[in-house]
Amino acid sequence: ANANAGALTGGVAATPAAGDAPPLTILYGSQTGNAKGVASKLKEQAESRGLTVKLVNMADYKPTALKKEKFITVVVSTYGEGEPPEDAESLHEFLTTKKAPKLDGVKVAVIGLGDSSYEFFCQTAKDFEERFNKLGAETIFQRADLDVDYDDEAAKWIDGALDAFEPDLKAQQQASGGQVVAMPFGAAAPAASQYTKQNPFAAELSVVQKITGRDSTKDVRHVEISLEGSDITYTPGDSLGVYFLNDEALVDEVLTLTQVDASSTVKLGDEELTIRDALIEKLELTQSYPGFVEKYATATGSPDLLKLVEDKAAMREYIEPRQIFDIIRQNPAQLEAQTLVDCLRKLQARLYSIASSQAEVEEEVHLTVGLVEFDAFGSEHLGGCSGYLARRAEEGCKVKVFSEHNDNFRLPANDETPIIMVGPGTGIAPFRAFLQERDAREASGKNWLFFGNPHFTQDFLYQVEIQGYLKSGLLTKVDVAFSRDQAEKVYVQDKLRKNSQEVFAWLEAGAHFYICGDANRMAKDVHQALVDIIKENSGKDDEQAEQYLKDLRSANRYQKDVY
Ligand code: 2AM
Repeated sequence: ANANAGALTGGVAATPAAGDAPPLTILYGSQTGNAKGVASKLKEQAESRGLTVKLVNMADYKPTALKKEKFITVVVSTYGEGEPPEDAESLHEFLTTKKAPKLDGVKVAVIGLGDSSYEFFCQTAKDFEERFNKLGAETIFQRADLDVDYDDEAAKWIDGALDAFEPDLKAQQQASGGQVVAMPFGAAAPAASQYTKQNPFAAELSVVQKITGRDSTKDVRHVEISLEGSDITYTPGDSLGVYFLNDEALVDEVLTLTQVDASSTVKLGDEELTIRDALIEKLELTQSYPGFVEKYATATGSPDLLKLVEDKAAMREYIEPRQIFDIIRQNPAQLEAQTLVDCLRKLQARLYSIASSQAEVEEEVHLTVGLVEFDAFGSEHLGGCSGYLARRAEEGCKVKVFSEHNDNFRLPANDETPIIMVGPGTGIAPFRAFLQERDAREASGKNWLFFGNPHFTQDFLYQVEIQGYLKSGLLTKVDVAFSRDQAEKVYVQDKLRKNSQEVFAWLEAGAHFYICGDANRMAKDVHQALVDIIKENSGKDDEQAEQYLKDLRSANRYQKDVY
């Protein structure tokens, strides 16, 4: 995703037109940039075959243009409970309306990105395919639903889909007199770091400092990583991908449970290594997902697990409280080393919103990491990456990282534009980056921060810095919601509502509005608060207020980084 992100700013990039021939239109809907990355790989590959391509962010696509399409590919991710990314929302909906045109004779291929640990895996991709088919478009290459570890499969799908499109496309493009020219591979990509998800940089972990109080219900760490010796750069709003090592005690337990010898050699792709190393460094042992249960059930023949494979609801319920090693712990069975490996998926880097600006910290990158910690089945459980950073990694050790661009979460280009930032809990992270950046740039735009957490004395993350910024005037306003410091819960959305008039005045004055943090409840509640604020101050009804926010979003003035 990194290599091409910068090249696509603006959303539309068409290769020189081949006469009036219909191009291969690539519609992408991306939230964090993964779908966009796959879409631009598809574009590169198509161009290297001499095909004319139009790459469009769905958010920038005029649905009336559908009438002119002949060849469409859709690259789209899915969020939360089967929801489309924001950029895809309006096209996703448009296809179900009466205004959607007939698409007979149109050829389409769809590729979805998602996470199989969620129930509605790749739902948005399924929706798009179904909706296009309903309008008459013919699927020319089978849809792929890609899981978090998608790179290899994406490459395969791209090859296959282009094989399917190429004959018709070439015929049409040549028939219309177009000159078909092969574009140099990756010509549009700007210089990007050599360090990527596939080739991360081993960076020094300089600081891991607990920033919640002793009596807090949460353990949040301020993490500093040195990028010295790398060419990694980042922009406020970007994320850092972090690889981690699994807990060795858990790894040894898994080996004992499956009666596998720790020194057995196994194959992972082209690589050969001992199973112990593979389990520590390369394979997922925490985050559970149905695919693991299915494979492990087959490998072990466990009747209990096999039953789950047939019952989706029971599978969800089973997976929810368990990490992968719990499932092995509760269903131990003797396995071949390679069989165990083949049950597990590749360990995925975890993405954290970056909490610093290079204008302030130069060759460092800061993160705000909430430790995932819970008791289940009589033992303590830790999140894979947060557990590693907070408990197992030592300051001074190396962690493998890469930066992930996110053009959907950016400061206004204009330094005079006011911004409103809503970032409860670890959602504060990118706003610390924004503030550092605006401070360094001496940006004159007003800055308003909403922060929330359980207790003032325990959980006011970056309190000293925030108060310093308030004093210096960088922060125009700060509103805090310490939810458990009084009998009634107080949340950031309550603080927004309390400031209804002023929030609306800021929006009317051109402010950009940002939300970072919990997607399931907080971001939705904040959105609703915004709708109510708009209605209250403008006399608009619900639909008009939603439209107001849609317009803000189209103008990139309403941005979310939620998880
Ligand atoms: P709570 O845990 O006391 O309910 C960061 O996690 C903060 O977000 C906490 O203060 C938490 O409050 C609060 N929070 C929980 N649910 C929320 C919601 N739906 N909207 C906004 N904030 C919420």
